Amino acid sequence: MTTQPIPGKRKNKWPVAVLGATGAVGQMFVRLLADHPWFEIVELAASERSAGKKYSEATRWLEGSPPSSTIQSRRVIACDPGVVSAPIVFSALDATVAGEVEMAFAKAGKFVLSNAKNYRMEPDVPLVIPEVNGDHLGLIDCQRKRRGWSGAIVTNANCSATVAAVALAPLHQKYGIRQLFLSTMQAVSGAGYPGVPSLDILGNVIPYIADEEPKLEREMLKLLGTYADGEVSSATFKVSAHTNRVPVEHGHTICMSIGFEEVPTPEEAIETMRKWEGFPATKGLPTRPEHPLVVTDQPDRPQPKRDVNAGGGMTVTVGRVRRDAILDLRLVAMGHNTVRGAAGGSVLNAELLAKGGSLDSA
Ligand SMILES: NC(=O)c1ccc[n+]([C@@H]2O[C@H](COP(=O)([O-])OP(=O)(O)OC[C@H]3O[C@@H](n4cnc5c(N)ncnc54)[C@H](OP(=O)(O)O)[C@@H]3O)[C@@H](O)[C@H]2O)c1
Repeated sequence: MTTQPIPGKRKNKWPVAVLGATGAVGQMFVRLLADHPWFEIVELAASERSAGKKYSEATRWLEGSPPSSTIQSRRVIACDPGVVSAPIVFSALDATVAGEVEMAFAKAGKFVLSNAKNYRMEPDVPLVIPEVNGDHLGLIDCQRKRRGWSGAIVTNANCSATVAAVALAPLHQKYGIRQLFLSTMQAVSGAGYPGVPSLDILGNVIPYIADEEPKLEREMLKLLGTYADGEVSSATFKVSAHTNRVPVEHGHTICMSIGFEEVPTPEEAIETMRKWEGFPATKGLPTRPEHPLVVTDQPDRPQPKRDVNAGGGMTVTVGRVRRDAILDLRLVAMGHNTVRGAAGGSVLNAELLAKGGSLDSA
């Protein structure tokens, strides 16, 4: 993470809270925000099962260095906007509760950066990967007018949709996607903690993840859609997704076949992906990697084991770009599901909002 001065005239970091701080994505927020140059965690919230306990008692720390003693000894509080004082909340809540809780926070004037599926497809809610469609944050003004609240809900996408959209954005922008077929191999950490029972997944592949295929298909179209005059027009290409759970710890791998309006050669597609810089305002943001998208020439990559932590987990790695006998081109993309596909994506959204002045009043 690069050290950057806090944007605007602000002297102190923004105080932030993490909702669902005890879960897999919540813990990733705690890790990524530990030394953040602009944001400082002041509150950790979770369910009533955890509220009142010290964070270290309420959390089974999954990996990496344990958090600081200040974080470990902090008391977990309830996900209640009357109790949480921070004006900005990162939500890693389970979808069964995120709908009600996130709305209560937005109504109370808080800025909610959500990882849950509940509001992603609402027409006035931005679904954002900063480098891909940072301009969609323009929807916040419409959301506030329409809903009559001073807070906001900004979402990041399903983890597989995120990996696929980062890989495809430069190609869609230049050549126009006509048809997309994709098949995922998704890591177990994508199911949260404790997630899939070990005896179900070890030595196995599960060809079903509840609700994942329709989510991936519809979110891809919104992410690669265009924003104008206060609304997002989703992309209109045909998309068909197969989703599978595989015994990999972190990193979703996605095999894709793509049909284009204007067909590039594999070499042209590779050059386009390599030259892509993403939405200009994201350049230099602390969590943005120098290269959000990397194309490898190695014939047996990307691999989760070797490539998942590229760019601090924020880089999507693409390989095996070649012709396709049914559509036009095929390729493999891989990215970190709890970093790029969840907590890191949310933090980058917040950084883009901060840089654009949207958090000045928070
Ligand atoms: N894992 C990924 O790769 C990934 C990627 C993208 C998006 N997401 C989304 O991110 C969210 C979190 O996923 P996860 O994998 O971190 O799940 P998880 O490990 O199961 O964690 C769920 C969190 O929600 C809290 N929670 C559950 N019920 C609650 C309630 N009634 N009130 C308040 N808090 C409650 C839990 O607190 P307690 O510990 O107190 O029960 C825990 O902190 C989900 O919406 C998921 O779909 C996950």
